[in-house]
Amino acid sequence: MRYYKMKQFRTNACNVLIIGSGGAGLRAAIQAHEDGSEVLIIGKRIRNDAHTTLASGGINAVLGSRDPEDNWKQHFVDTYQEGYNIADPKTVEILVKDAPNRINELDEWGMPFAKTEDGKLDQRYFGAHTYRRTCYAGDYTGRAILNTLLKKVEELKIPIIDLMYVSELLVDKQGSEKHCFGALAFDIVTGERTVFLADSVVLAAGGHTRIWRRSSSRRDENTGDSIRLALKAGCMLADMEMVQFHPTGMVHPESLAGTLVTEAVRGEGGHLINSKGERYMKNYDPERLELSTRDRVALANYNEIIEGRGTENNGVFLDISHIGKDVILEKLPRMYRQFMESQMLDISKSPMEVAPTAHYSMGGVVVDAETHSTHVKGLYAAGECTTGVHGANRLGGNSLAEILVFGKIAGHEASNYSENLNYQRRNKKIIMNANKTLDDLTSNGDELARPLQRAVRDIMWEYCGVIRDEKGLKKGLLELKKIKKASNNIDVRPSAEGFIDLALALDLLGSIESAESTILCAMERKESRGAHQRKDYDKIDEKQNVNYIVEMIDGKQMISSKRVKTISRELEKPMKNYKNISIVGRLLE
Ligand code: FUM
Repeated sequence: MRYYKMKQFRTNACNVLIIGSGGAGLRAAIQAHEDGSEVLIIGKRIRNDAHTTLASGGINAVLGSRDPEDNWKQHFVDTYQEGYNIADPKTVEILVKDAPNRINELDEWGMPFAKTEDGKLDQRYFGAHTYRRTCYAGDYTGRAILNTLLKKVEELKIPIIDLMYVSELLVDKQGSEKHCFGALAFDIVTGERTVFLADSVVLAAGGHTRIWRRSSSRRDENTGDSIRLALKAGCMLADMEMVQFHPTGMVHPESLAGTLVTEAVRGEGGHLINSKGERYMKNYDPERLELSTRDRVALANYNEIIEGRGTENNGVFLDISHIGKDVILEKLPRMYRQFMESQMLDISKSPMEVAPTAHYSMGGVVVDAETHSTHVKGLYAAGECTTGVHGANRLGGNSLAEILVFGKIAGHEASNYSENLNYQRRNKKIIMNANKTLDDLTSNGDELARPLQRAVRDIMWEYCGVIRDEKGLKKGLLELKKIKKASNNIDVRPSAEGFIDLALALDLLGSIESAESTILCAMERKESRGAHQRKDYDKIDEKQNVNYIVEMIDGKQMISSKRVKTISRELEKPMKNYKNISIVGRLLE
């Protein structure tokens, strides 16, 4: 029985449609508006509750507030080198050159950055940065950025529609040309559907890290929505296996397991200690210790736990008590509250228990470095749903810089595209098909989305987690196929509670699609590099200096590879001279 057949839907037309009300989407909207476009933002969450609010510790830019010798080339080298040479060099270059402008702009817009005594933006250490270049607002930097951007969006009177779930991008395919002309979405509360017609679209709807059992994303966010929408629209994905496990997520209570414990704790001098009381990072990276790269620290924590030196809750200890309560309350207020509220633990007196947690999608939609256009005309993408900046390991603090730098670029280019268009496209057949797909999904079935989503998370954690191998990945893929089959029979019943069932069903489809591309890429990459660690191929294989690409061909995900791009001559020398500049003795003022 079908509960809900929609013959009618509303129509809304704008120049630039932004999908996602997090930092990347808001920054794109501001730019497109300033360039003269009529802009509309739609998001599946309430506007001030996007995932950006969870980014804690900081945002990177070469400002030299603390270390005047810092420079953009060194930021490039740190980012590219620690991404194990598979990032897109041009994208990294754009990021590091433009980040200072974007941060100064935020400062002008009223962002409450921490300042030094002489009024400069303060900068702290984050792992694997040669210099202090992470600007911050306590340990709620993401929330402060989102609030600042929202204030600007409100000043500019850019409309936002909350709780609007995009089921499909509307794409007109003519031969090999694909043109995006909007999206079909429904209101999660009323179910009302709207066809959003747009000259161009910016996809900024986040990554897919909620598909792991332990994740720093909350329920119902980062469920791979962008990945599903983009694949279906005809975009390419790359490096989906490159998912960053943050070394320090909470381990209990179970309902909060995976919640981020910011790297700023280590940036401010926190020590990692095993159950034997050993500060074990000396065995993994004696020079940089806790401020080693994220992949190394995550692997170290994982090893300590599986080799039996973990805590009774399967974690390790992270101790910051030695810096004193006043400093903790000034620099890490959220962490103080988080542990007090959830565990009655005073982190100025006792260590926290932490373990690796899925944190950031470094792979995603392939975009052009300079325009952030996708392979579909009129479709742009920005933020965590894209790939290119981080390679195989992201430096903490680079993602908040990324959303601003590339949000602005995507908004500008989408606006340009709109301006150069002669007429707004609209294809009734495509709209009706998208509407029918939603109708078909809204029916009785034997399966529920929530347990199937949980099954996906268990599969990903068990077979495609911190350490992987061929046998496990194959098993994971087989298990995933069963979930995919079951997902054809989901029970979706709109009720007085709204259309949350339908949203969950689509979240599930996003999770399955992104899990499949992640496992396929993980199987193909027969080496260990950065965040992708394989038990059966435990070294880097230089022959695999490639990006693994996924495309949907005839409804099936197909995989291929592309050699990575070479770096410019200007950057060859700094790359050759790369050495880990010692940070010992410079950790704290
Ligand atoms: O640990 C953190 O505060 C996370 C920052 C980031 O992922 O960039």
